[in-house]
Amino acid sequence: MRHEIVEKNVGLLAVLILVVISFGGLAEVVPLFFQKQTTQPVEGLKPLSALELEGRDIYRREGCVGCHSQMVRPFRAETERYGPYTVAGETVYDHNFLWGSKRTGPDLARVGGRYSDDWHRAHLYNPRDVVPESVMPAYPWLFENTVDGEATPKKMRALRALGVPYTDEQIQNATSEVRGEQEITALIAYLQQLGTVLKDN
Ligand code: HEC
Repeated sequence: MRHEIVEKNVGLLAVLILVVISFGGLAEVVPLFFQKQTTQPVEGLKPLSALELEGRDIYRREGCVGCHSQMVRPFRAETERYGPYTVAGETVYDHNFLWGSKRTGPDLARVGGRYSDDWHRAHLYNPRDVVPESVMPAYPWLFENTVDGEATPKKMRALRALGVPYTDEQIQNATSEVRGEQEITALIAYLQQLGTVLKDN
């Protein structure tokens, strides 16, 4: 009557139910770790340049991810509006992911090249100058702050340890490439490359 033991012991029953259900989850998740489609970079994917990497960190620091996703889902309404849907191979170099889950503003996964640098500068300085009804915050300090680049090589080395193929040369030149640049320049460099690898397909 081993079954009776399980049925009369609600704690044990709960644990065993969890074990059974997790097999379903594992069966779905584990194969993804071994599929090329999800683990290999798409053709032409390059690691972020030093400046773009600093831009990404500003994007993160300023909480842009709280209002903007970077994930075009495979639905007609999304692909008509934003362009080709996001595939896993585009984001294999992202640590951490900035896919986001909240869209107060539009998805940014394919925003690269959609607007000019000047448009972005005006928009980030004060969104309402460009889009009168915008509720996006203004980021005027990005025009005053500059990047010092002290930590850029360390960041690149950390990313390399996670499999992002930075060369020694890129790491050596990183600080001098970004030092003294305005934060806005770095942020826009980051925005302008978003989603461009697959844009024309
Ligand atoms: C409080 C929410 C919020 C935050 C935080 C926010 N945005 Fe926005 N963003 C919006 C909204 C709403 C729009 C649409 C109106 C507009 O274009 O200003 C928008 C539009 C944009 C657009 C134009 C997208 C398009 O396809 O037209 C870009 C680019 C953008 N935001 C970048 C950023 C960046 C970079 C940051 C961080 C520095 C940021 N946003 C932070 C809400 C936000």
